[in-house]
Amino acid sequence: MSKLVICDHPLIQHKVTLIRDKKTSTKDFRELVDEVATLMAYEITRNLPLQTTTVETPVAKTEAKIVAGRMLGLIPILRAGLGMVEGVVKLIPGAKIGHVGLFRDPETMQPVEYYTKLPTDVQERQLIVIDPMLATGGSAIAAIDSLKKRDCTQIKLMCLIAAPEGVQAVQEAHPDVDIYLAALDERLDDHGYIVPGLGDAGDRLFGTK
Ligand code: PRP
Ligand code: URA
Repeated sequence: MSKLVICDHPLIQHKVTLIRDKKTSTKDFRELVDEVATLMAYEITRNLPLQTTTVETPVAKTEAKIVAGRMLGLIPILRAGLGMVEGVVKLIPGAKIGHVGLFRDPETMQPVEYYTKLPTDVQERQLIVIDPMLATGGSAIAAIDSLKKRDCTQIKLMCLIAAPEGVQAVQEAHPDVDIYLAALDERLDDHGYIVPGLGDAGDRLFGTK
């Protein structure tokens, strides 16, 4: 079974509370999501492999650590995943970015894939699939399916808020994919929205409602 990590640093909890607030403006919502993504990126990259290099400081030559091998690949799920990408890129400027476009059909709640564009060396990278919301899990499962179809093997999932139903669905479909959250909420409502959640992440990020 995969690992479930709740990134519950006090700063993350504080910012997620502001993000949830329906009175938060689009501008503040966007900034807060970006900031939480940066804080979560710190946790999600904790186990990146290191290698030793030599560096010459103004004082002496010394051995020191740098991140080993290829850098990461970030895979935001369009469109709401875009809101978290820059926050992660601030910490990992060398990361390549692939996009998976999915929307959830409001009638069936099933994900529909409409766009995929990935780095050419995506199979060799450690990938972080990014989406603020993990509700039924359908979108995340479909995005990970799409990556695995292209022979990707090292995949993590990073979301702001999840419902237990979504976590369980992803863990059953992809037991090799560790999940990183800022908050695990109570449940889904009859429309597949996370309760208490934050509403529609895409609409709040882009001001479309
Ligand atoms: C939202 C969200 C996830 C998905 C989660 O996207 O950003 O991608 O719903 O729901 P699920 O776990 O039940 O699949 P939405 O389909 O609203 O598209 P958008 O990002 O374009 O607004
Ligand atoms: N998508 C969202 O944006 N919010 C939810 O609560 C569920 C799915």
